[in-house]
Amino acid sequence: MTEYSSNGVVAYDVEDRIAWVRFNRAEKRNAMSPTLNRDMMEVLDALEFRDDVGVLVLSGEGPAWTAGMDLKEYFRETEATGLAGTRKAQRESYGWWRRLRWYQKPTIAMVNGWCFGGGYGPLFACDLAFAAEEAKFGLSEINWGILPGGGATKVAQELMPFRKAMYHAMMGENIDGKTAVEWGLVNEAHPLATLKDRVTEVAKVLLAKNPVALKATKDAMKRVGVMSYDDAEDYLVRAQEAANSFDNEGRKEGIRQFIDEKSYKPGLGAYDK
Ligand code: ACO
Repeated sequence: MTEYSSNGVVAYDVEDRIAWVRFNRAEKRNAMSPTLNRDMMEVLDALEFRDDVGVLVLSGEGPAWTAGMDLKEYFRETEATGLAGTRKAQRESYGWWRRLRWYQKPTIAMVNGWCFGGGYGPLFACDLAFAAEEAKFGLSEINWGILPGGGATKVAQELMPFRKAMYHAMMGENIDGKTAVEWGLVNEAHPLATLKDRVTEVAKVLLAKNPVALKATKDAMKRVGVMSYDDAEDYLVRAQEAANSFDNEGRKEGIRQFIDEKSYKPGLGAYDK
């Protein structure tokens, strides 16, 4: 059964341990207004520690994933309230993207259509990203006279080869799903008609893994990027030891089923939880 956030601009269903969360302002191409940003935080909050949720997928209703920040409500109307209003709106948008970046559960961006500007924040926040071949990605900021802010420049720089990122930011042209794969923005592109099937398949693989190990792995992958090799090695030892204190039996069971029971091979799949 579909549930809705307080203001109805985020919709979600939980089915077979997958939370399908959707931007729900199709008529405004899912542009991120302050209301949407608040509602999204509310929904992330509600789902994060639910036992019946193992993976979160973020997609959009209608032809857009998200058309980025709402130019009227996020920029023009909040700017008109002065600096305090602007900062509040920034905190609310950056806040849920950050929450998503460090989410307890694995997260997948399922980019069904338009993805512009500020949309690169939640796109980057999700651990994995799958796009429709028909989707269009753009740093359109330059087309209306600002730099790609709110982290968008950082996202392009982080995920794309430098020349591609520079071209993308300066030219204001859109790329499709397949090009987004080539340029490193998303993992895979599929025809829109089969996108959800592929994402479901991926989510099911994640659901079969040890959840403590998954959280430790995704955090580690994000943290080590700015560390030296020695710092990373040290962090990873400690991160595994911390994970052991949450999940003393899981990895021992993984070893037991392989070495003693010979019931699976870690090189070929996950142990039986
Ligand atoms: N902010 C506010 N309203 C928006 C936004 C947005 N980012 N995107 C779409 N809308 C509104 C339109 O104003 C329109 O409202 P209306 O029905 O009241 O006139 C409605 O959504 C539908 O939009 P259309 O433009 O009619 O839809 P169409 O399918 O023809 O085009 C497209 C879709 C290409 C996404 C177009 O709406 C567009 O260019 N949007 C802006 C994209 C953008 O540059 N976003 C900002 C990125 S920069 C940043 O995020 C910091």
